[in-house]
Amino acid sequence: MERLGSNVPGLISLFVIFLLAAGILAHETTYNVVDFGAKGDGYTDDTQAFVNAWSWICRNSTGPSALLIPAGKTFLLDRIVFQGPCNYAIHLKVDGNLKRINEIWKDKFNSWLLFIRISVLNIYGSGELDGQGTDWWSCKMKNKCPFEAAHNLELLSCTNVQIWGLKLINSPMMHIAVGQSENVYIGGITISTPSDSPNTDGIHIQKSQHVVVTDSVIGTGDDCVSMSDGAVDVSVSNVTCGPGHGISIGSLGIAGTVATASDIYVSNCTFSQTTNGGGSGFARNISFVNIKMNEVYYPIIIDQYYCPHKRCSYKTAAVQVSDVKYLDVAGSSTSKLAITLNCSQTVPCTGITMDNVNLWSADQGQQVQSNCINAKGSAGNKISPAVPCLTTY
Ligand SMILES: *[C@@H]1O[C@H](CO)[C@@H](O)[C@H](O)[C@H]1NC(C)=O
Ligand SMILES: *[C@@H]1O[C@H](CO)[C@@H](O)[C@H](O)[C@H]1NC(C)=O
Ligand SMILES: *[C@@H]1O[C@H](CO)[C@@H](O)[C@H](O)[C@H]1NC(C)=O
Ligand SMILES: *[C@@H]1O[C@H](CO)[C@@H](O)[C@H](O)[C@H]1NC(C)=O
Ligand SMILES: *[C@@H]1O[C@H](CO)[C@@H](O)[C@H](O)[C@H]1NC(C)=O
Repeated sequence: MERLGSNVPGLISLFVIFLLAAGILAHETTYNVVDFGAKGDGYTDDTQAFVNAWSWICRNSTGPSALLIPAGKTFLLDRIVFQGPCNYAIHLKVDGNLKRINEIWKDKFNSWLLFIRISVLNIYGSGELDGQGTDWWSCKMKNKCPFEAAHNLELLSCTNVQIWGLKLINSPMMHIAVGQSENVYIGGITISTPSDSPNTDGIHIQKSQHVVVTDSVIGTGDDCVSMSDGAVDVSVSNVTCGPGHGISIGSLGIAGTVATASDIYVSNCTFSQTTNGGGSGFARNISFVNIKMNEVYYPIIIDQYYCPHKRCSYKTAAVQVSDVKYLDVAGSSTSKLAITLNCSQTVPCTGITMDNVNLWSADQGQQVQSNCINAKGSAGNKISPAVPCLTTY
């Protein structure tokens, strides 16, 4: 039990870092993107004005700066690389709306708004980031896109980043992608995209440490929050997921090397109409605490054989899943299998523990079941449906 709360000091120090950053930024100079020539009429391509504003603030400012994207306007933007390192911390106050120019790119480029190598960055406001992804979705569904679709917003090699309050919709691919970054706080976000849009994950985290996702509402066509290779020390709390696929941890075991995702704490979250509540493929030290399930297809699932793109090597199934805790999990399942622990024979799952887990069928009068292959661990008294492969303690 003690281990459950042990990430709290980590979270607190993260908050302290952000408070410090906010304190430094209290003396920032504010610039308005309109003064760099942006029109914000929803028709004019404002890309160059944003690029000019960014490069000036990033490289010519003599102190912390804020770039205001004013409310009541819609800025039409092509892909932009917000390149660091910058001289000082930057606030991006996004109160206006940003809209991606609706085109399928003819060359490879992963993101619409890419932030790279920036060391203190706060992106916040009440604006909406519309990725206008419909054309990408349809070519993707026909398997005819020339390149991978773009993420709405990507952080690459950034540290001390706070993203707060934005609304993100219709991303061609993931709405927020976090890669090779550290100390990232994402809070008060709303993400909404049609449930039939392909690969439109809400937030995707990989090769990153100390990431907090909190107080957000995420409905997409794919994972709510996905964590793959090298996602370490991630906390997801008070997030409402659905519709979509729920949380996936360590699922992208695409042939070759797989760095384990670990130290993940999911608490106070609600899953509604999702395909899973928390699925893990290759990962260790994960806790799901105080979780509500509302019509979830596989509320609890560990599947070491999960292989969404059919490109997994057999090796991937040999990556261990260990120390996964489920504490205070309740709600309804739309599949008969409310609990699935599907582990490999060569590397069984170990240290799976459950306490106070209560799942029932979303269809009145139906029973739910558990399925357990090569999983070891222990369960408390109040586990429904029973999971016979776990030793009762
Ligand atoms: C910004 O700084 C660069 C050198 O770092 C300089 O070449 C450029 O003229 C400056 N731009 C402005 C608008 O001052
Ligand atoms: C949970 O997040 C919602 C926003 O989605 C917020 O309104 C609410 O205050 C948060 N609850 C707590 C206990 O922080
Ligand atoms: C497990 O993860 C938590 C964060 O969720 C961390 O505080 C703790 O130290 C980790 N335990 C081990 C044994 O690595
Ligand atoms: C989850 O909610 C409980 C109250 O129900 C609160 O004490 C705890 O701090 C919350 N955890 C997180 C990580 O927000
Ligand atoms: C469990 O793993 C087997 C492979 O051994 C696979 O055929 C089956 O579909 C999996 N079941 C679930 C529910 O994921």
